[in-house]
Amino acid sequence: MSELTVTRPARLRPRRLRRTPALRDLVAETRVAAEQLVMPHFVLPTSEADVPIPSMPGISQLGIETLLGHVESDLALGIRSVLLFGHPHEGGKTPDGGAAAAANGAVQSAVRRLRETFGDSLLVMTDVCLCAYTDHGHCGVLRDGRVANDESLGPLVDAALSHAEAGADVVAPSDMMDGRVAAIRDALDGSGHDEVVLMSYAVKYASAYYGPFRDAADSTPGTGDRKSYQMDSRNVLEAIREADLDAAEGADLLMVKPALPYLDVVRAVRETTDLPLAAYNVSGEYSAVKAAAAKGWLDESGVVRENLLAIKRAGADIVITYHARDALAGGWL
Ligand code: PBG
Ligand code: ZN
Repeated sequence: MSELTVTRPARLRPRRLRRTPALRDLVAETRVAAEQLVMPHFVLPTSEADVPIPSMPGISQLGIETLLGHVESDLALGIRSVLLFGHPHEGGKTPDGGAAAAANGAVQSAVRRLRETFGDSLLVMTDVCLCAYTDHGHCGVLRDGRVANDESLGPLVDAALSHAEAGADVVAPSDMMDGRVAAIRDALDGSGHDEVVLMSYAVKYASAYYGPFRDAADSTPGTGDRKSYQMDSRNVLEAIREADLDAAEGADLLMVKPALPYLDVVRAVRETTDLPLAAYNVSGEYSAVKAAAAKGWLDESGVVRENLLAIKRAGADIVITYHARDALAGGWL
């Protein structure tokens, strides 16, 4: 044992503020509030169904009426926002993903039922993309084997309009085509939907963390990957450029995705935009925690709390997370 010769003066003691829970809560710099959480849902074009997704324990593909029950109990927990992903009807996948805009599609029908049932007490957000509806699984239409940017805008606009028509509060394009924010904004404004909020997946990386989602949404590309349209993990300046462009095109909310491996990006975007910022704690981030917890290797409640706090601390205002229900029901926050 070495002799301790220098001690910090008694008057400089950060530990004083850590003594009791009340004191720690009083001085906490970051909080996660229920109303800042968004719960994602995978909607099937049927009434009653609850099909568990093996790679996402605790999450199911839901029929529309089944979804209403889940949303009702989530509302009681304080979850006021949902983000909907849809599945086409059997055999509904085509080269141009036209079913993404079907007035009677799973998302459109679910939006109408949620609106009727919960009114403005629930905020209904919809993911706008083609990948669950194209037969090749890409987020845009193909031309000579490549995802064609401008040709993809029409089908995306149609999908966004169909969601607005059904009563969505927020439409969220996740395709990463250039110029889709302006195209969707103009189409909304030109058709009486100027109050519909546009949340752009502005900064979306090509990520291995989307793996479980692609099981859930049945949206794995048949050939190739998404690297010609989603961002390169090595870049952060490019994130600022994407965020600036989408803000200039009229996005109301910006998103960074995934969240945990990109907290530096969340921070960088936070410091350059004055728009509200969302971060998407994606499927792979969720499933990794679930798998480790199931093996008894991690304490789920502690890890989820720490992860959600980290995303908030990095600068996100809104967190989209599959953990929302468990975290609130378990009092983990
Ligand atoms: C589809 C889409 C994806 C996610 C949201 N919208 C997958 C992808 O781009 O391949 C990922 C969400 C998650 O992993 O939880 N455009
Ligand atoms: Zn897509």
